This record gives sequence, structure tokens and C-alpha cells, in this order.
Amino acid sequence: MTQPTNQNPMTNSDRSSPKQKPWSDIDLSRWREYDHVLTDSLWLFPHRASGDGHQLDYHGNYIPQIATQLLLRYSKKDEIVLDMFLGSGTTAIEAARLERRCIGVELKPDLVEYVRSKIQPDLLDRRIHILQGNSADPQTAARVSAVCREMGAEQAHLLILHPPYADIIKFSDLPEDLSNAPDAGTFLDGFEQVARLGYDLLAPGRFAALIIGDKYEKGELVPLGFWCMERMNRAGFRTKAIIVKNIEGNEKGKGKSANLWRYRALAGGYYIFKHEYVIVFFKPAR
Ligand SMILES: C[S@@+](CC[C@H](N)C(=O)[O-])C[C@H]1O[C@@H](n2cnc3c(N)ncnc32)[C@H](O)[C@@H]1O
Repeated sequence: MTQPTNQNPMTNSDRSSPKQKPWSDIDLSRWREYDHVLTDSLWLFPHRASGDGHQLDYHGNYIPQIATQLLLRYSKKDEIVLDMFLGSGTTAIEAARLERRCIGVELKPDLVEYVRSKIQPDLLDRRIHILQGNSADPQTAARVSAVCREMGAEQAHLLILHPPYADIIKFSDLPEDLSNAPDAGTFLDGFEQVARLGYDLLAPGRFAALIIGDKYEKGELVPLGFWCMERMNRAGFRTKAIIVKNIEGNEKGKGKSANLWRYRALAGGYYIFKHEYVIVFFKPAR
């Protein structure tokens, strides 16, 4: 009987020619050279990457490494990454660095102007498009679609959604801002509307990522991550992976306030959030 071995699963023919998926530039015939691309479902980043235009200039922005991992894994050079909650532009800056194109939508007009000022002028409105709008509005989706066509594509190649975690951070006073939803049900309905529009804007056979955390309310855990995942599924996305990512650099985790949170956790029977989710989906091919 043949015994299983630990030999390299690549054949000689694998080595000789590049082997790629239609949604990534990773050459599978050289898979050992991609140590920097994560494949484990636990992401532990000791610190936030800085430089290359990235700054910790917006309360609620995600660390650039999230965009790096998603772009490398699920998009090819020159393809279009659509971010419907662009915030301070982390995805757009990383897309520019990794030679992807990007369409970002953000609700707050002043923030849109600020992000535009951070993008290299020769890329702005050419390879990187920043739109002000409500991502739950079909008219915004129609504008995104028009920009996609101007860029020579029918649909985007990767979708990134990093919505407010309900009301944990209030981003503005605007009524369309999902962080102003009066309750979790209204937040989820608004999020699902964005997910449905995002689904139509994404090319079939391509990937979407949702970055989200949970919250506590009245002493009870509100599992926003799983509820939003379910809304993505209702919109048509199939779930590919649930990644747990550490939260670092949270000021609440330091000094005296850390002790206070720890006391509250011990007294209340709960746990202090040290993680959020990066949930990966795919849109079935036609
Ligand atoms: C969690 S932040 C995204 C941060 C972003 N990933 C970054 O790194 O800067 C969520 C963003 O969604 C925006 N937002 C909230 N409701 C929106 C809506 N209906 N349409 C578009 N953007 C919205 C907020 O203004 C906020 O900037």
C-alpha cells in the first residue's frame, strides 16, 4: 500500500509555467514564495503599518494590512477595488500602492475632500475615484456603475465593506449615516441595502470582504458580525471564510482605564473585545 508522504505537492509541470486564478496575481506554481500572504483564519498584527501615505488620522479607520491582504489575495494589478465605506481612504491609498485601481464612496463631504487631497494628483479621477454619496442609495450605485464603465469595466473586481459598527462610533450627524441608525434592526436593514447594491456592482465569480466587530448593549452581546454576515448571504453572497483579527493600539486597553475595563468585565461577567472580523464572501460565477 502506498503511504502518504510529506513531499511537495507541486509537480514538475506546475513549476515550469505560472499558474494563476482569474482573481489573483499569485503564481501558484511558486506558492512557497508568498509567506507575506496570510492563509490562516487568525490575523495577529503587532502594530499598524504606517508610511506610504497611511496615517492614524481617523477614529475608526482600519489598519492598512487588512487592505494589503485582501488586495493581494483577491485582485490583480490594474483591477478595480470598490470600497463603499471609504472613510479616510485606507483602501484607496493601498490600492494606489499595489497598482490597483479604486472607486471609493464616502458619505461625509469634508472627509471626501480630505481623502482626495491625500491621493497623488496623477492618479486622482483616473485610477482612483472618490465619490461622495450614500452607499444605500441606488442613485449612488448608478454613479459607481458609470465610473466603472468610464474605467473600461462592466463591474468592480473586489468589494470591500467596512461599515460603522452600528453606533459604537458616531461618524456624523447625517441621517443617512449608518452609525445614526436608531436600533440594530434599522442598522442591519441599511447595511443589507448597501450589500445588495454592492452585489450588483461586483463581477460574478469575484470576492467581497466585510470588516466588522460586535458590541455590547444593556449587558448583552450584540453579534453584529454574524448578523451582517447573514445579511450579506441574503443579498446573494456565499461565505468563504471568517477571519478573526486582533485589535491593537486601543487606548482603552492601556493604563488606568485598562484596569477599569478589567474590573467591569470581572464584575459584569463579560469579556473585553480584543478582536474584530474580516469575513470573506464570493459572488457565484454566472
Ligand atoms: C468604519 S468607517 C470606514 C473606515 C475606513 N475603512 C478607513 O480605513 O478609513 C465607516 C465609514 O462609513 C461612512 N458611512 C456611514 N454611513 C454611510 C453611508 N450610508 N454611505 C456611505 N458611507 C457611510 C462613515 O462616514 C465612515 O467614514
